[in-house]
Amino acid sequence: MTYKIAVLPGDGIGPEITDQAVRVLTALGLDLELKSAPVGGAAYDAHGHPLPPATLNLARESAAILFGAVGDWKYDSLARELRPEQAILGLRKSLGLFANLRPAILYAELANASSLKPEVVAGLNILIVRELTGDIYFGQPRGVREVAEGPFKGERQGFDTMHYAESEVRRIAHVAFQAAQKRNGKLCSVDKANVLETSQFWRDTVVDVAREYPDVALSHMYVDNAAMQLVRAPKEFDVIVTGNLFGDILSDEASMLTGSIGMLPSASLNASKQGLYEPSHGSAPDIAGKNVANPLATILSVAMMLRYSLGEAAQADRIESAVQAVLHQGLRTADIFEEGMARVSTSQMGDAVLNALK
Ligand code: IPM
Ligand code: MG
Repeated sequence: MTYKIAVLPGDGIGPEITDQAVRVLTALGLDLELKSAPVGGAAYDAHGHPLPPATLNLARESAAILFGAVGDWKYDSLARELRPEQAILGLRKSLGLFANLRPAILYAELANASSLKPEVVAGLNILIVRELTGDIYFGQPRGVREVAEGPFKGERQGFDTMHYAESEVRRIAHVAFQAAQKRNGKLCSVDKANVLETSQFWRDTVVDVAREYPDVALSHMYVDNAAMQLVRAPKEFDVIVTGNLFGDILSDEASMLTGSIGMLPSASLNASKQGLYEPSHGSAPDIAGKNVANPLATILSVAMMLRYSLGEAAQADRIESAVQAVLHQGLRTADIFEEGMARVSTSQMGDAVLNALK
């Protein structure tokens, strides 16, 4: 069995962290066919588009995609459709990657990295399941128009459209319920049903799906309250399921509870388990090329790839154990450094994980 993997390093620190993740992946002894292609700003520079057809085609024909990061301030003045972020949105939409899994785990060794009190976050392990191909992110119509009537008549108006079809809510709800079954059996659905029709429909649909999962305790929370509870008592959560926009915001918040976004992987899956795997952090252009970025989130994304797209759970365990081991050895990149630990570079961290794999 040859696994076809697309490697899309992207911009900023993307290439250097992806390099380390590829070293780890290729050290496992699996039969792999790895192919790289430019994406994001790098692809715009080379081909005039953040997601060139050749890159999209490579992604389509691969079992899994290892994605670094995209974006740089220098592209901020480009038209929206040419900005680096469009590459990730385009991949999600074109491949139907509707299920975004974003774990927020606080490693015991990094308990001091959080800005919250240790007793609030110690042992934190939550999973955000974010719907990724619908909602106001992709809803039509959208744009700028002239207001036809009312107090703002005649003015220009920016607008977007929020909507969710029943099957879109059902399929992400199933992913979340099944994840909760494998964890602590608790699912919290987050919406804004006190204000939004889309959210009331979301909630009603999740309640209906819940009848198939009597072993999962379902609760509901408004998004504003969820944002508050995440910092007040994050350990009350097990799995959170929510729409695209709320999930974008809450997953950034949740990742920072751990104080080490450089540690957090993510997976974006479609119905046939094809997946895109990327670190939760961005392209960090300010430290690009300096060999100081933390490669562990990307290395842990490879573990998620092995588990969810390739069905190689034992190999995933190997990588996760190796990462635990290097933390235990006291090795720290700059983002998670604390006094008394050994500061290492991006590539040294990669070396250490490779050693720990053996
Ligand atoms: C994320 C990012 C993207 C999003 C951007 C880069 C389009 O913030 O993956 O969370 O909003 O989904
Ligand atoms: Mg985001």
